Amino acid sequence: MICKKLLPCIALGLAASCATFPDAPNVALSAEEMIEAAYAGAPDVLVKRAVQDADQKLCSRPASEKLSSEEAERVTSSAKASMRYPSSGKLAGDWKAGEQLVSNAAGMRIRDGRIEQVNENGALCVNCHALDPKDLNVGNLGPALTGYGAQHGNSDAVIKYTYEKIYNAWAYYPCSNMPRLGHNGYLTPEQIAHVVAYPVDLQSPVNRK
Ligand code: HEC
Repeated sequence: MICKKLLPCIALGLAASCATFPDAPNVALSAEEMIEAAYAGAPDVLVKRAVQDADQKLCSRPASEKLSSEEAERVTSSAKASMRYPSSGKLAGDWKAGEQLVSNAAGMRIRDGRIEQVNENGALCVNCHALDPKDLNVGNLGPALTGYGAQHGNSDAVIKYTYEKIYNAWAYYPCSNMPRLGHNGYLTPEQIAHVVAYPVDLQSPVNRK
């Protein structure tokens, strides 16, 4: 008896709740509002991080809404236009300085509602990439870069690609999950050159046999 009555009720209830569920643009809007509310009263540098530029807006659309080829082209060409290089013109620096940066993230701290720069910003590449084969505490969101220089060589073309990939990854892969570290101002062009040397230099532990 109970089952007979309960089932149609559940079906009706589901239909009603489906009909009132907000559509994708409204879900996105609510998410934006929640983020804005979460940053209220935060230091300006933090608030700025929650404001999406035109490319980030394109890339933040739901996964079901694929980028059109024109949109993908717009993201890659604006990433290419964003490139800045060290004034020395040298795109590969000192791998030992790079080694410090790839596993370091202790740049800023929020204290008493203000941001304090306690250290130079780091890159934290190891959160997403394996680099030194001896380092087992690494993430795998990005491809393993172990043996990168031994595999690809250290030609000017490889160095330029690696530099640009780190400065603004979207120049080669629109909307990828790799942060735009130079474009967003977390790393300076000089720091990026040191980071480039770490996977590319054949003396670096990344290319250890
Ligand atoms: C949040 C995760 C994340 C972080 C942090 C990150 N990456 Fe990536 N990286 C990725 C992903 C995902 C890809 C693959 C998609 C792409 O090519 O953009 C990638 C691709 C790359 C590639 C291209 C590999 C190839 O074979 O062409 C290089 C080089 C690279 N990352 C280097 C770095 C370095 C160096 C750092 C630190 C400065 C870093 N990444 C930080 C996620 C990350």
